[in-house]
Amino acid sequence: MAPLSSMLLFAFCFFFFHSSAGKVSPDAHRLTVELADLLPSAACNRRSVQAQISGGRTQSSLEVIHRHGPCGDGNSKAPTAAELFVQDQARVDFIHSKFSGDFKSIDRLRPSKATKIPAKSGATIGSGNYIVNVALGTPKKYLSLIFDTGSDLTWTQCAPCARYCYSQKDPVFAPSQSTTYSNITCSSPICSQLESGTGNQPGCSAAKSCIYGIQYGDQSFSVGYFAKETLTLTPTDVISNFLFGCGQNNRGLFGSAAGLIGLGQDKISIVKQTAQKYGQIFSYCLPKTSSSTGYLAFGGSGGGGGALKYTPITKAHGVANFYGVDIVGMKVGGIQIPISASVFSTSGAIIDSGTVITRLPPDAYSALKSAFQKGMTKYPKAPELSILDTCYDLSKYTSVEIPKVDFLFKGGTVLELDGTGILYGASTTQVCLAFAGNLDPSSVAIIGNVQQKTMQVVYDVGGGKIGFGYNGC
Ligand SMILES: *[C@@H]1O[C@H](CO)[C@@H](O)[C@H](O)[C@H]1NC(C)=O
Repeated sequence: MAPLSSMLLFAFCFFFFHSSAGKVSPDAHRLTVELADLLPSAACNRRSVQAQISGGRTQSSLEVIHRHGPCGDGNSKAPTAAELFVQDQARVDFIHSKFSGDFKSIDRLRPSKATKIPAKSGATIGSGNYIVNVALGTPKKYLSLIFDTGSDLTWTQCAPCARYCYSQKDPVFAPSQSTTYSNITCSSPICSQLESGTGNQPGCSAAKSCIYGIQYGDQSFSVGYFAKETLTLTPTDVISNFLFGCGQNNRGLFGSAAGLIGLGQDKISIVKQTAQKYGQIFSYCLPKTSSSTGYLAFGGSGGGGGALKYTPITKAHGVANFYGVDIVGMKVGGIQIPISASVFSTSGAIIDSGTVITRLPPDAYSALKSAFQKGMTKYPKAPELSILDTCYDLSKYTSVEIPKVDFLFKGGTVLELDGTGILYGASTTQVCLAFAGNLDPSSVAIIGNVQQKTMQVVYDVGGGKIGFGYNGC
């Protein structure tokens, strides 16, 4: 009897362990990534935003799409990875110049002189790759706008495009056809708020209308009338007297988007303008692939489904409008990488929706890279791709096992990145670690949008904290 029962027990245990071993990854510190999720796809998988945002949150939710993906505008040509990274570096250089204080108010942006700025073909912006649809005016006109946590002013191209409008997907907004539009006058105290939100002193037209000017990098800017208008986020979320830029001279590659929504922390940002209504809380989820959709939501607790892990919003070395976070370390494959605590405290860090690839202090990047390479030895290497120097030829695989990468934030918050937030695929023969190093150890680190994919990111600006949740979309 005894031998039989122990044999049964053995058989049972064997079966049990055998079957569970088949489901659970043998190494909890590695992730399986499907190659198809890293590469561009031709079809748009639009899912219901309503379904994603259910769960009793009282908030206004907008669908987020990748502007170069198949859910975006099929007419606008997607840049190559190398072009995209040149744009991304221009944005990063611009952010770094703001932090290092050598950012100057640019007089050439005055409307009278603005035509001197060449609009290079292929000139770029890097003001973010994700867009939402909102409506402006009475009656409502729909506009697709890039959303950007790294800037404050919301603007759209406006008729009559006195100097220049680039071509956009939606009809250009025409203030003369709206019953709720009005200009801000130069003497209004609101006009003088522009300087902190745009980095430029306001101008004044002959008819005493307040003029804004904002630039985002080498080649891109918008100049026009600072105005008030009714903004409709959803049919039930209508904001009257919303301050925005009515752009009469707009250049740079904003793709086919009609303009930009500024989600920064300055007084003129949409977050502060709607503080009464939404309590200075917004959240988004950036989709896993460029062919799926995410959301941008205003208000609510940001609670959603899963539990959120928070880290405080910091001042990011004094550049107040950016969302600073305190990174204290990183893990690769479950093991903290060897970098001294001062590396991240010297650089400081921000989280940005518009920067594509995360930038790390040079020492942090080299430690990350060597730890990651040790976990990838079974995969053949590939040439570097612009700013990405750790690439693999994965053309023989449909899925790969890679080391997990985690950010460690002040307060003990650990953030595990999704596989699509660790690798960037240009093609199956060139899939790269999606991080880059800054040149200067004192340049601010930036958590970019690739790393934020699939996460619910909640900006509780009033509460001074940012929350992260998994599987947000
Ligand atoms: C806004 O100001 C501009 C320039 O001063 C002017 O051309 C335009 O007619 C004004 N619009 C309204 C609605 O007052």
